[in-house]
Amino acid sequence: MKLEDKSYAHYNIVMPKKSSAQIRNEFFEFFEEKEHLIVDSAPVVPKDDPTLLFTNAGMNQFKPIFLGEEDGLNEKGKLWKRAANTQRCIRVSGKHNDLEEVGHDTYHHTLFEMLGNWSFGDYFKEEAIEWAWELLVERWGMEPDRLYATVFGGDEDEGLPVDEESIELWRSKTSISPDHILKFGKKDNFWEMGDTGPCGPCSEIHIDLRPDEERKKKPGSEIVNMDDPRVMEIWNLVFIQFNRLQDGSLEKLPAQHVDTGMGFERLCAVLQGKKSNYDSDIFEPILDKISELSGKAYGDDEEIDIAMRVIADHIRAVSFSIADGASPSNEGRGYVIRRILRRAVRYGWDRLGFDAPFMGKLVPVLAEEFKNVFPELHAQQEYVQNVVLAEERSFLNTLGQGIQLFNEMIEGADKLSGDDAFKLHDTYGFPIDLTQLMAREQGISVDVSGFNQLMDEQKKRARAAGKFTHTGGSDIQWNQITDGEFEFIGYDEVESEVEITASAVDDDENLILLNRSPFYAESGGQIADTGLLEKNGSVIKVLDVQKTLDGHVHYVDQLPEDLSGTWTAKVDVDRRWEIEKHHSATHLMHAALREKLGKHVVQKGSLVEPNRLRFDFSHFEAVSKDELEQVEERINQKIQENIPLKEERSVPIEEAKKRGAMMLFGEKYGERVRMITFDPNYSVELCGGTHVNATGKIGYFRFTHETSVAAGIRRVEAVVGKSADKTLREERKLMEDIKGLLGDQTDPAQSVQHLIDEKKALEKELKKLQHQKAAGRLDEILDQPDEVNGVKLFTGQLDGGSMDRLKQSGYDALNKSDTSSVIVLATVNEEENKVYLLAAITDDLIGKGMKAGNLVSVLGKIVGGGGGGQPNLATAGGRFPDKTNEAFETAKEWIEEQNL
Ligand code: ALA
Repeated sequence: MKLEDKSYAHYNIVMPKKSSAQIRNEFFEFFEEKEHLIVDSAPVVPKDDPTLLFTNAGMNQFKPIFLGEEDGLNEKGKLWKRAANTQRCIRVSGKHNDLEEVGHDTYHHTLFEMLGNWSFGDYFKEEAIEWAWELLVERWGMEPDRLYATVFGGDEDEGLPVDEESIELWRSKTSISPDHILKFGKKDNFWEMGDTGPCGPCSEIHIDLRPDEERKKKPGSEIVNMDDPRVMEIWNLVFIQFNRLQDGSLEKLPAQHVDTGMGFERLCAVLQGKKSNYDSDIFEPILDKISELSGKAYGDDEEIDIAMRVIADHIRAVSFSIADGASPSNEGRGYVIRRILRRAVRYGWDRLGFDAPFMGKLVPVLAEEFKNVFPELHAQQEYVQNVVLAEERSFLNTLGQGIQLFNEMIEGADKLSGDDAFKLHDTYGFPIDLTQLMAREQGISVDVSGFNQLMDEQKKRARAAGKFTHTGGSDIQWNQITDGEFEFIGYDEVESEVEITASAVDDDENLILLNRSPFYAESGGQIADTGLLEKNGSVIKVLDVQKTLDGHVHYVDQLPEDLSGTWTAKVDVDRRWEIEKHHSATHLMHAALREKLGKHVVQKGSLVEPNRLRFDFSHFEAVSKDELEQVEERINQKIQENIPLKEERSVPIEEAKKRGAMMLFGEKYGERVRMITFDPNYSVELCGGTHVNATGKIGYFRFTHETSVAAGIRRVEAVVGKSADKTLREERKLMEDIKGLLGDQTDPAQSVQHLIDEKKALEKELKKLQHQKAAGRLDEILDQPDEVNGVKLFTGQLDGGSMDRLKQSGYDALNKSDTSSVIVLATVNEEENKVYLLAAITDDLIGKGMKAGNLVSVLGKIVGGGGGGQPNLATAGGRFPDKTNEAFETAKEWIEEQNL
């Protein structure tokens, strides 16, 4: 089908054309008239919900209200039971995942806007249906004849009946034709946020945008829910009544709610009479910019159009998630962003000819376009742009090589092996879905299970190396001991009477839940407390505390038989005090870094332990030694001022914002936050951690490291309190030891310099000797040619295991040898258990069609690797050093096979 045939321009609906901004505003105005509070979009990176990687629906931020934990929204002095907004959503993982489709079709997106209206236990089906109809048909002029309503047809397994009430309401409250009301099952008409959480039956509105002739031939009712882009869902009305629990069962909620969602990009395309979402004014500025940068037009060639759509779409997801606090990385959310970005970069490289970073240049266009809707991007435009550019740059460094290797790997193959896919991932940074996409384009498959196995092995190695922590909690079987709502009391107490409410053994670890706990659970970068639980001589050690789906899980050393009754919980206070010093110092440091380096410095990660702190922040170059020293001095000054802590536990977010608290993007609307202030003019932060009551207790602050962790993100490490003291003593001892070794020289620095100079001279000498030795060995090889097919073949192995030296020897050999020579050299790197091969061919033979690149790729396969290079000199690396002789033999055969 041509794009034109697939497009959903509704050829003969005539409505006044509106801009997308106007459409959005009219939606807000409509629901304001119906007494809804218009709220801000939550960030796409959800803050406190471990069940979600990205915000996937407008209702996410209201989950606690639906579950009955809160009553509604407190705002402007009253409690609101109705709200509406536009929410930026990302659907690339978990239950709702559209990534595959994006770009290839014209109506799925990684990031899209969802217009929604909500009732929190207030109005229900009747108003939701009536108002949706009123807005679409009466206000916006959609033809009733083109609209279809689907309703839930019931589900026996779940014990849920047909939604007769909605059918009746569609008939009585709207002018829809009765044969446009269609029943569908659970898959289409029972909406769930994820594996767990609020859910309920839903009623969707679909629009048929086909030309009249086609509509006459086949009624739209036969095409609804059939993936035809011209007959598509525009609005989903969910009637939330249940909570899906861990065990898969449905729990009835205390109240009934309405949750609706309308795809904004689709809506605009429809109301603007466009062929696809990408033809609406929403995507116009970005597509224009891509055209300008690439010199290619949109709409002329489907292959190019796909690439442009992918890029126009993906830059939105990437930019907003970075602005909302995520960053490209190797795991979890960060890896999703990295995958999306790499997918776009590869399309740009392959189809639009971009070989330098280009995605970053789109960020300002997006920031400007959404300035008034989602100001978060505009406010951080430069930061986001730099992160994107740097991430692109690093991928572009390996992309070309990776694609070349990929092409070699698939030559003549109908399947890409797991090994090859893993190599592309591990060495060239190709996410598996990118490899799959490229393979699909070539009509070949990928051994994904082989790839996954190699990935698992890699993960196991990482785990064995201790780079893995427990965060689980979802499938644990708890033994309930007693009831009790949990309360964290560790801000005020470090020793308390508590009860154990449940226990479990999971993966050989002993876990308990408490009714109240003074032990801080790891969060906000602050490591968990440890300590003891005591009862009548029985002692349980608390080793760790993690917040999980089940609550604050305490990891303990043992589970004595009798866990009942009252226990005395004792936090290891010495350790806690040291943690607090490092946490408060982190705040003083954050403020000092912003003062010294600029306001673009924003926290990107933090770790607070009893003996050190680590802090990642946005900044584009290394922090110089001078700058570090000045920051250090400033922090120590603030410590000596002994500023008292001001802790406020429940400040409305709006007030916190006014008072200049840092880290505001990422907070939920209507939330109350905890504020930690050390001098209102110096450090004001939102924070859930524990702190010293005055800065003097921190003692002394000292940086220990400054490095880069990712594009545009720096990392510093520092010590305070006892740790700083210890570090200083160790350094003093080290200095004394060095002086001792140098014979107590008066100027140790000068003596060390002298040693370094001497070492350099010796290294030079050693290199020379090694070179001479290699030259000797090379001469030996060149003395013993084999004659094959009228060609002199020299083969032999060199010492050293270095590719550089091997290449040098290759050039030397070419210079020394007569015409009609082929030289094959090898060297084994014992440490890496690798063999490097080199083939060199004299010019006269190249004239006869022989190429070193071809030879080396044959030999490379024998030693379990690949390679390539120039016609006269090429190299390969492989994993089987003991096949070196076989490679030499193969070189002979290869020459024999040549047509000379
Ligand atoms: N939460 C519903 C959806 O995402 C409205 O479709």
